[in-house]
Order: sequence, then structure tokens, then C-alpha cells
Amino acid sequence: MDLPHRRFDALIIGAGGGGLRAALQLSQAEARVAVVSKVFPTRSHTVAAQGGVNAALANVLPDNWHWHMFDTVKGSDYLGDQDAIEYMCRAAPHVVYELEHFGVPFSRLDDGNIYQRAFGGQSRNFGGEQAARTCAAADRTGHAILHSLYQQNIRAKTHFFDEYFAIDLLHDEQGYFLGALVLEIATGKPLIIEAKTTLLATGGAGQLFRTNTNALINTGDGMAMALRAGIPLQDMEFFQFHPTGIAGKGMLITEGARGEGGYLLNGEGERFMERYAPNAKDLASRDVVSRAIATEVREGRGCGRNKDHVLLKLDHLGTDIVAKRLPGIRETVKTFLNLDPAESPIPVYPTAHYTMGGIPTDRYGRVVVPEMQGAEEPVPGLYAAGECACVSVHGANRLGGNSLLDILVFGRAAANHIIEHLRETRYHRPLPESATDQALARLARWEQKGEGESVDELRKALTRIMEDHCGVFRNEEVMRAGQEKLVALQERLQRARIKDHSQVFNTARIEALELENLMDIALATVSSALARQESRGAHSRIDYPERDDTHWLRHSLYYKEAMRMDYKPVRIKPMTVDSFPPKARTY
Ligand code: FUM
Repeated sequence: MDLPHRRFDALIIGAGGGGLRAALQLSQAEARVAVVSKVFPTRSHTVAAQGGVNAALANVLPDNWHWHMFDTVKGSDYLGDQDAIEYMCRAAPHVVYELEHFGVPFSRLDDGNIYQRAFGGQSRNFGGEQAARTCAAADRTGHAILHSLYQQNIRAKTHFFDEYFAIDLLHDEQGYFLGALVLEIATGKPLIIEAKTTLLATGGAGQLFRTNTNALINTGDGMAMALRAGIPLQDMEFFQFHPTGIAGKGMLITEGARGEGGYLLNGEGERFMERYAPNAKDLASRDVVSRAIATEVREGRGCGRNKDHVLLKLDHLGTDIVAKRLPGIRETVKTFLNLDPAESPIPVYPTAHYTMGGIPTDRYGRVVVPEMQGAEEPVPGLYAAGECACVSVHGANRLGGNSLLDILVFGRAAANHIIEHLRETRYHRPLPESATDQALARLARWEQKGEGESVDELRKALTRIMEDHCGVFRNEEVMRAGQEKLVALQERLQRARIKDHSQVFNTARIEALELENLMDIALATVSSALARQESRGAHSRIDYPERDDTHWLRHSLYYKEAMRMDYKPVRIKPMTVDSFPPKARTY
């Protein structure tokens, strides 16, 4: 098939904060950069990040990056790689000041400095009093960052392919990654984008779960492309449930609400977090707060007619604080619940929020795979950054405010490495004709019309299975049943057909391709969770309630082929400072 071709130095798939930060660095270095996004860039999911980005600026309370590093390691339940965490926490002030210079309209203190709020799992002095480390633009920080980065990219002449869907990565027989086959959504026409380097920045897979905080587009596309290319996914058992989603609906109520002084109440009017986290209380790390809420409800102390949620109380903060610091959530709660949180508490329950696992990378954003004798080898030409990647700075539980930081630090780091690589790589390697076979077969599969299973129904079934079988609390029996149901669903997906193929904008075909991606990620998540026989961070097993460092202080790797598991060590040694060895974790 003779397909149209474009050629660039760097291809970036995904136009959220990670992709745009990388693109900007590359365009400013005069590389020819293409950004492919299935939505218009400013609709990427970074736009939904509310509370802020962590950096030890010490604008409100004393702080330093080493305390930030300690909190991140502890928050990760000691599964994070400490060299990467050190790198991120040290770089944080710099990337935030860069944002300020790019024009991000941060909220300000009276002295003109960037406003910083308290967030969960933050401390001063290695586990002491609460810190205030999260730089915020009211409760619309991601929106402010994404728009500023997009505008800077327009100025730097980054080339955008808006509303193009990436079907699969292209590589040669020697394993060099050479770009991707993409589909123009409006016309359904495929296009080959050849590139000397490809960066995956496609975000997470929150659409695995029925109740979630994520945009509909978060279907794990980059992770699934990596799996199909033979690359394993790391630590997929660790999926974060944000403690405060609107009960039954899932929309995010920022942790910043508790950072501003809000607190949780159970059906007996008790501030129950005092029992679970006597020091940090409502600002314990997310895994701890989500488990506490789920436990209160399970033990019959929930609120409402069905006792199926708890309440987040903000009315004592006063209308001025709610209006100034939390305008976005006030609007959301008014819209979806017809309540004003400045007057009435918000019904909340944990909601699927963030994929801690992903494509294994080093701290330069290079995708790495295990080699002989435990060593790791970079995959030539392939990079990943942000939620689709696992570098691993979040380990078993991410701290709030570290995801915006992750995309900025590692988007930039990946771009810097690509710039070096491009200096030594003047020519494109030849693209073999067979490189597009797999991608074209995927496309052809969804050309078939007629009667069959409905893609929409199968997607709904998948999200129900994940919610019922891989939630906040897990055990062998429930997850095993979930895995069996997913395997059966995958078989049904083979029989699915697009009903009305003539639909405008080709969206039915995109939804089918997304469902294939979600299916692979669901199997990776459940299989990795079944294999890990301990409780750590967000992975809470009723049948293995303790953390087991002797056997499980290691990263998991899931391969699509035969759903195989492998493991690799955690990097406990940072680059320049003392490490934080695993300890019992209390808040
Ligand atoms: O609660 C929030 O505002 C979410 C922040 C995050 O996930 O980092």
C-alpha cells in the first residue's frame, strides 16, 4: 500500500503537559518536531489537574528538596527509584520558575511570590510538621500550565497533527523505533510519520474503571502500543484511587480542598481520619485516606440513605476562601450536585485517578528493557514521559502534586536527551516496508462491518469488571475471577463489529481501537495485581495484608505475550545523598 509519508527529527505522541514540555524544549533547540494528538492539544487531560505542582520553594513555610524527596520515597511505600526521585525533587523549583516565565498565572501571596498550599503526605524535616509545597493557580493549575505550554509551542513553531490517532509504533528488524502509523480522524486516512526518535506521552488509563476522574480519552494508548511492540509494562498493579471523587459520579474534588482546611466526616459525624492517621489526619497520603473511607463505608459508618459515601466539609472555611482558592470545584459541585460547598458538605468516595505503572524508562526518558544478567538496555529511538511512563518516581503510591511535576521534569529531560541523540544522528534509518503491517492489520480489522458484539457494551463491561474485581481492596479469589472475565471479554472483542461504519468523523473506529488498548491494559493491571502477594501503597490485599520487603521490594514487569511476569530490583541508592531505607510507614 502506498501511504503518504512525513519525516521529522522527533515525533511526540500526546499533547498533554509532558508532550508539550518536551516539544517546546526540542523546538527551541531547532529540531523538527511533530506532535500527534487525538484531541485538540488544550483538551488533553493535563487540563483537568486541579490542586497544583510540588516544588520546595519555601514561599509559605520552610522547605527543601531533600524533605520533598523523603516524602516522595515514603509516599511510594519505598517502591520508587530513589535516583529518579532525587532528580525530580531537585529539578522541581527550576521547572516551576520556568513555567512562571512561560506565563503561567500562578496564584500569588501578598508579597508577590507563588502561592503554595498544603497537600497530602507532605512534611517538614523528614516526617515532621505539615509542609506547604504545592504551587497552585487556584484549583485550575493544569489548565493554566497546558494553555501556557501550548502557546509557547505555537511561538516556537512546533508542528501539530491535531485529531490524529496513533495506531502503532514502527520499528525495523534490529529493534530501532522509527515513528508511527497514525490516522487522521476526520478523513480516516492513514499517514506514516517517520522520525529519528519517538516519545510516547499519551497519559494514563483511568478509563479502565467505571467511576474515575479521567477524561474519556485516557485509554492507555501509548502503553498498549508499547506492549504490542514487545515492551513490558512496569508496576501496573499500582492504580491510584483518589479519596475524594463526587460519590457515585467520580469527578475530582481536589486534595487542595483538604489542603485549605477541609476535612472528612463519617455518618456518625466523626472526623474519622484521626483514627487512621493521628498526625497527618485528612492530609495523609492518598492510599491511606482512600482505604480509610472504604473501611468506614464497609463497616456501616457511611453517610446517606445507602451509607455508601462520606462527607467532605468545607463550609467552615468561609465563602471567600472557597471562592478564591477553590472556584473550579465550587462550580463542579454546583453543576453536578446542585450544592454550594461553601454552605453544604460534599458527598465523596474514592475514584480511580492515576496509573502509577507504565512503560519502563530511565531518568532520561529512554524506554529500557531488561537484558542479560539483570542489566537494562535502552530501546533505540524510543522514549516515554509522564503518566504513560514508569520512571519510577511514584512507586506504589503517588503523592498529590507530583504528577504535574513528573510530566514537566521528565518531558524536559527526555527532550534534552533527544537533542543529544539528534546531534549524533544526521540521517533517518530506512523504514522497511513490513514495518507498517501490524498497524495496517489493526486498521483493516475495524473495516469489517455487520452484525456482532457492540464495542460500547464491551467497554462498559470492561469498566465494571475492573471496578468490581480490582478496586481499593483486593484478594486472590476476586481478582482471579476478574482475570477470567477479562479473558472471556477479550474473546468477545474478536467478534465485535462497528454497526454504522458511515459515521461522520470515524469516531466509532477510534472507540474500537481504544477498547483494544484498554483491554490490554486491564489484563496487565489484573495480572500484575494477582501476582504481587503483599500489600504495598495502593495495592491492598486482604489475603496478604502486610508489606513484604523480603520478597516484594521489586518492580513487576508484565509482557503481553502469554501474560508473562518478570521482576527487577528497586533502585534504593540516590545519586548524591543518603538513601531512605524502607521503614514502617505511618502518618
Ligand atoms: O487532588 C488534586 O488536585 C489532584 C492532584 C494530583 O493528582 O496530583
